[in-house]
Amino acid sequence: MNIILFGPPGVGKGTQADNMVKNFNLYKISTGDLLRNEIKKNTNLSRKIKSKINQGLLVSDKIISDLIVKILSKKKYFNRLIFDGYPRNLNQAKSLDLLVKKYNQKISCVLNLNIDKESIIKRILGRLVCAKCGLTFNKYFNPPQKKKYVCNLKYLKTRLDDNKITIKNRLGVYTKKTLPILDYYADQGILYKIDGRRKINQVCREICDIIGSLGTWLCKL
Ligand code: AP5
Ligand code: MG
Repeated sequence: MNIILFGPPGVGKGTQADNMVKNFNLYKISTGDLLRNEIKKNTNLSRKIKSKINQGLLVSDKIISDLIVKILSKKKYFNRLIFDGYPRNLNQAKSLDLLVKKYNQKISCVLNLNIDKESIIKRILGRLVCAKCGLTFNKYFNPPQKKKYVCNLKYLKTRLDDNKITIKNRLGVYTKKTLPILDYYADQGILYKIDGRRKINQVCREICDIIGSLGTWLCKL
């Protein structure tokens, strides 16, 4: 089964996708992470991507579709993907449907995480990402602890788009372009609402229960 993790910036999609990978035989595909990897290449394309991300705007559907095709066509990922932060508009949602059909796969559920705007801002402004191992922490809610984090604290950085101005733009884009896709998935009967205000492990437990009910064969333990 392929799963979509849906929700506003900072709600905890990446955190929960990482937890799902630990608990199930699934792979995380974060379009945000793929784009940040592209930026490191320092090409014309990467400069275009960087400019969009830093403004909090969506990168073009063509760029995203090219990245997704590369993943969906790989045997290793067949029906085992967690899409984190994709699709982000109706065009991407329809294009994903065509692609999963083409590669003989299926979207089994869309997990819609939600929280209030104030918590979103606090979570984003408190986020710390390790430039070395990629783990994500939070100054306020999930500080790095010795047993979970082995790299030096100097590697913990703030993402360039995690500032007040860009957050406002990201939330605007989410409301205008991304949120309307929910009706598309509700009509397909695959939408699950999840209260993202709770603690990380509580949200994780609910997600695990949903996935477990859809296919126990995916469990690692
Ligand atoms: P992307 O990287 O996907 O960013 P986003 O959607 O804005 O989401 P975030 O990564 O900010 O938040 P998250 O929900 O993953 O939260 P996290 O788990 O880190 O995209 C970045 C940009 O790339 C976009 O703006 C766009 O420009 C471009 N882009 C990406 N995909 C695209 C696409 N498909 N099409 C076009 N453009 C695209 O958690 C946040 C913080 O809160 C962390 O510090 C975490 O530790 C903490 N936290 C998590 N859960 C909890 C909890 N339950 N309680 C307390 N703290 C928590
Ligand atoms: Mg993320």
